[in-house]
Amino acid sequence: MLQGKWITLGVSGGIAAYKAADLASKLTAQGAAVHVILTAAAARFVGPVTFAGVTGHFVHQDMFANSPDCAIPHIDLASRADLLVIAPATANVLAKLAAGLADDLLSATALAATCPVLVCPAMNAAMYQHPAVQKNLQVLESYGYHILEPASGRMACGTVGKGRLPETSVILEKIYQLLTPQGNLSGLKVLVTAGGTREPIDPVRYISNRSSGKMGYALARAAAQRGARVTLVTTPTALEPPPGVEVVRVETAQQMLEAVMAVYDRVEVVIKAAAVADYRPARMAEQKIKKSDAMLVLELVKNPDILGQLGQHKRPGVTLVGFAAETADLLQNAADKLRRKNLDLIVANDVTVPGAGFGSDTNVVKLLYADGSVKDVPRLDKLELAHLIWDEVLRLRGK
Ligand code: PMT
Repeated sequence: MLQGKWITLGVSGGIAAYKAADLASKLTAQGAAVHVILTAAAARFVGPVTFAGVTGHFVHQDMFANSPDCAIPHIDLASRADLLVIAPATANVLAKLAAGLADDLLSATALAATCPVLVCPAMNAAMYQHPAVQKNLQVLESYGYHILEPASGRMACGTVGKGRLPETSVILEKIYQLLTPQGNLSGLKVLVTAGGTREPIDPVRYISNRSSGKMGYALARAAAQRGARVTLVTTPTALEPPPGVEVVRVETAQQMLEAVMAVYDRVEVVIKAAAVADYRPARMAEQKIKKSDAMLVLELVKNPDILGQLGQHKRPGVTLVGFAAETADLLQNAADKLRRKNLDLIVANDVTVPGAGFGSDTNVVKLLYADGSVKDVPRLDKLELAHLIWDEVLRLRGK
């Protein structure tokens, strides 16, 4: 995600400084070159060795110290950065940035920065609510800084309120948004479905499949990162929904059909990554079915074909993308679904291939287009594949 990006990470002196080490580590793991500036107060909470260890880079603390990778630290750390992140940003640092002070390496670097600046305030709830802090945040916003609101909850000082540094995953999401060059889905209204439907047999049992929801959530996440307005219709999964996405929770194919139809009129792109049960039990037993010596026969009836119905009522300007999960004759079966469901694109995965399909973090697919062309996509992380699919959607829409 962040290959080739230079992120200057300013860490100031609050207890949440320890969380900045996790952030630095995760940014580094995703390919970013993370150059840390520790304020004097931050270094009292977490030492430079920790940050050097997780980033593999020299940690900057002093405006005038010799640095192995920066001739003039406050200028290089600003001008070479794709993004300056200040996490945690204490009340003191916010005040300095708002006033334009440059009396230490972090504040001087912030003044010299022309890249986007992300500020993540974290402090005691009463301090955060103080009018001086709120005013400083408004001033920073007026400078074009991006402010990530603190989270609410219990703080190290024992009080409960707003002021916690958000979870690393939330900060990372904001960083992706700021660094993803393609804000090119901006304003596009899209619908994504995810997960496997559950078709009830009785109050405690259901028929389902192996879908984890990862592929659909990755598509929703990638679209939101690129500025789309995303509705995610999802069956129960263990996954955290991506921030900024409208989530509609369903269980059965019938509920998914209703949820999809409720928004279909106002979206421009539909991607159906969900694994929808083709059949459901004809009746749901009202009570838990008891074990007996007799054979149990379940009568199944056909579920509606949701994507098929969207294809039948396709409006001009709408792009329809389906998935095909196959165990044999991948291209033939997928091409058949593409035609029958009137799709623009179908993403075909042979779910018997290692690293493809259900549950894995990666997928291996072929893209089949309405004009008959086919593209092979090697194994990719599902989020990377999701971005590639959105690139293809844009191309099909002539963008
Ligand atoms: O969720 P993960 O663990 O990440 O796994 C990802 C995945 C394997 C579920 C995903 O990559 C995938 O292949 N999703 C589609 C699975 C599927 O149901 O394929 P299908 O060939 O049965 O259906 C074809 C298309 O029609 C799909 O877009 C499906 O959403 C849609 N469909 C199917 C049946 C039905 N009754 N209504 C539908 O809308």
